[in-house]
Amino acid sequence: CRVVVLISGNGSNLQALIDQQAAGLLPIDIVAVISNRPNVMGLQRAAKANIPHQVVDHTEFDSRELFDTALQQCIQQFTPDLVVLAGYMRIMTADLVRRFAGKMLNIHPSLLPKYPGLHTHRRALDNKDLQHGSSVHFVTEELDGGPVIAQSQFDIQPGDTEDSLAIRIKQLEHKLYPKVVGWFAENKIALQGNQALYNGEKL
Ligand code: GRF
Repeated sequence: CRVVVLISGNGSNLQALIDQQAAGLLPIDIVAVISNRPNVMGLQRAAKANIPHQVVDHTEFDSRELFDTALQQCIQQFTPDLVVLAGYMRIMTADLVRRFAGKMLNIHPSLLPKYPGLHTHRRALDNKDLQHGSSVHFVTEELDGGPVIAQSQFDIQPGDTEDSLAIRIKQLEHKLYPKVVGWFAENKIALQGNQALYNGEKL
């Protein structure tokens, strides 16, 4: 399974995929890492793992459409079976999403459908939620709104802060995302209409 990973920053989820692949636990080939920001940690992680990496800098384009066209061309040259968004922080045009329908995953730090968008940890604390977590979903045209494939959750403790939640969430994400990417590589999951399937059954 040829995988292109899109990032905007740190890339700890990318690292989890790299590590699982290197350990022989994940049947994927990460053929490229593409960042919309130059000089980010995730690019260094790719370099260290000898993975081709490129920057398509959104600040160099006059519109979202022009940027996404360039990004799409960049992705396509690697002929991926799967595009994995791992801390990729740009909203995508419908065109780009449609081009990779059923072949693009995102990980979002909330228990979707709660808290699409930004500042999920703060929103969970403000609402005095008892639980928090992360979701992997197929990417559709609705921001963070595609069908959820799997979630990891944990109890919010008294004294938790945005930072402490972010740390705990990432620990879970580093197990959750490789697991779901592995399912995709093994043809266990699919998108049918607006429904995620696991072994042909609705999730
Ligand atoms: C993760 O928490 C993910 O849920 C969100 O962005 C963060 C990326 O972290 N979409 P990293 O760059 O993988 O460390």
